[in-house]
Amino acid sequence: MSGKRIPTGVPEIDALIEGGLREGKSYLVIGEPGTGKSVLSLQYLVRGLMDKEKGLYVAIDEKPADVIEQAASLGWDLAPFIESKEFLILDASAYFVARSGDTAKGVDVQRVAADLNTYITRMGAARVVIDPLGPLLASRNPDQARQLIYALQANANTTHLLTTYSSDKQLRSVEEYLVAGTMVLSNGARQRPLRAPTDPRKNARHRHGAGAVFIPHRR
Ligand SMILES: Nc1ncnc2c1ncn2[C@@H]1O[C@H](COP(=O)(O)OP(=O)(O)OP(=O)(O)O)[C@@H](O)[C@H]1O
Ligand SMILES: [Mg+2]
Repeated sequence: MSGKRIPTGVPEIDALIEGGLREGKSYLVIGEPGTGKSVLSLQYLVRGLMDKEKGLYVAIDEKPADVIEQAASLGWDLAPFIESKEFLILDASAYFVARSGDTAKGVDVQRVAADLNTYITRMGAARVVIDPLGPLLASRNPDQARQLIYALQANANTTHLLTTYSSDKQLRSVEEYLVAGTMVLSNGARQRPLRAPTDPRKNARHRHGAGAVFIPHRR
């Protein structure tokens, strides 16, 4: 594994963690609704685009059009990156369409993992976000989380952010042994003014400083 660091795009966080996340690892972003998990996820991917790193956003709760609109409201025009296939928003809603007789089983995690790896390899994604992870793990079974995260780690050059609600206790317990670190967002992050860049290529800077805590794990 390389010692390369992947900047999150939030200077205050990067300063705390020797310049960024460890390449090839998975990280959890934990926070109550509205604490900025999706904005941080976008910021992470936009930062990658500025460094010519391709990004994959797996949108669970939002439609791709909403993600694009939210990015635009922050001053980030994703269209050229989508056009050039440097950025892909995967609409995960297809996984939640119940097939007849299949409803009790929920989402097929193995299929999701295989599909994700196909997309990651095909586009050469360096940065991946699953926002949020919980609904993919229908029974909130830690084994499913393990399966998915292990599958993602097959891509040694891909660094992942997985968001989750604070109340998802079982998922939080996954953090200790499956991910390389956890970022806990709280409302403090939102009370700071948002300074949106007008050009996505300029250094995007949001004030997560007050409300973000980073917890590194050993793995
Ligand atoms: N760093 C920030 N600074 C200032 N305002 C922010 C920041 N991050 C997010 N916000 C504001 O908070 C709103 C909610 O953020 P976001 O959608 O990222 O939260 P979330 O944690 O993903 O919520 P949910 O759990 O409902 O998906 C955003 O629309 C934005 O207006
Ligand atoms: Mg969100």
